[in-house]
Amino acid sequence: MDIVTPEIEAYLSTLVTRSSLLERVAAEGARLDLPIIDSAVGRLLETMVMATSARNVLEIGTANGYSALWLAQSLPADGRLISIELDRSRAQLARDHFTEAGLENRASVMVGDSALLIHKIAGPFDLIFNDGDKRQYPQLLDRLVKLLRPGGVLITDNVLWDGEVVPGLVSLPNRSTEETKAIATYNQRLATDARLVTSFLPLRDGVAMSIRKPSR
Ligand SMILES: C[S@@+](CC[C@H](N)C(=O)[O-])C[C@H]1O[C@@H](n2cnc3c(N)ncnc32)[C@H](O)[C@@H]1O
Repeated sequence: MDIVTPEIEAYLSTLVTRSSLLERVAAEGARLDLPIIDSAVGRLLETMVMATSARNVLEIGTANGYSALWLAQSLPADGRLISIELDRSRAQLARDHFTEAGLENRASVMVGDSALLIHKIAGPFDLIFNDGDKRQYPQLLDRLVKLLRPGGVLITDNVLWDGEVVPGLVSLPNRSTEETKAIATYNQRLATDARLVTSFLPLRDGVAMSIRKPSR
């Protein structure tokens, strides 16, 4: 089920200009059948990097580096993006794209399981983009909040999961109920976690924006 109609998504994409490199990386993602964000979500990520004056950014789920390019391109020269990816060949594609963009000193990929690696990295991060394995969403949340600086932003993709998280609305074939349940659990936690203020945006497949309260 489309959260946003294809016509409106197409219209929104006409309002976002992107570099020829981003165009090519998006086309590569489509060719390789990678589930990457669209340009409207990319512009949202870029906007939030600027709004938070982010210097330290963490991403879970790199794929070929498309969303990472949106995040890294507006970081200051001494800013850092660390992105975590399980698949070595996808990580290499992303690294090649960072080099092509001249961002290789700002953006890096750690290869491995995010459930393990997030306990090996130190924060604080100004912004975290969570877009990895949906089944891991609930187990990652507490650590991700701890890695955020007070006032920092956690952005999570696919929180509406094609409408599957709405009880009784739609049931797509070839969808693991495990993923749907994990996202629904995660959304409830985002909504009720006393450390966070969360807004759920019905953009593309649903994007949650959570601010870690300054005092928590
Ligand atoms: C939705 S894609 C990321 C798309 C990317 N953020 C973008 O929009 O350009 C999710 C990625 O997470 C990776 N992934 C899956 N399980 C993972 C795990 N346990 N640890 C780290 N990465 C994982 C997948 O290989 C896949 O490339």
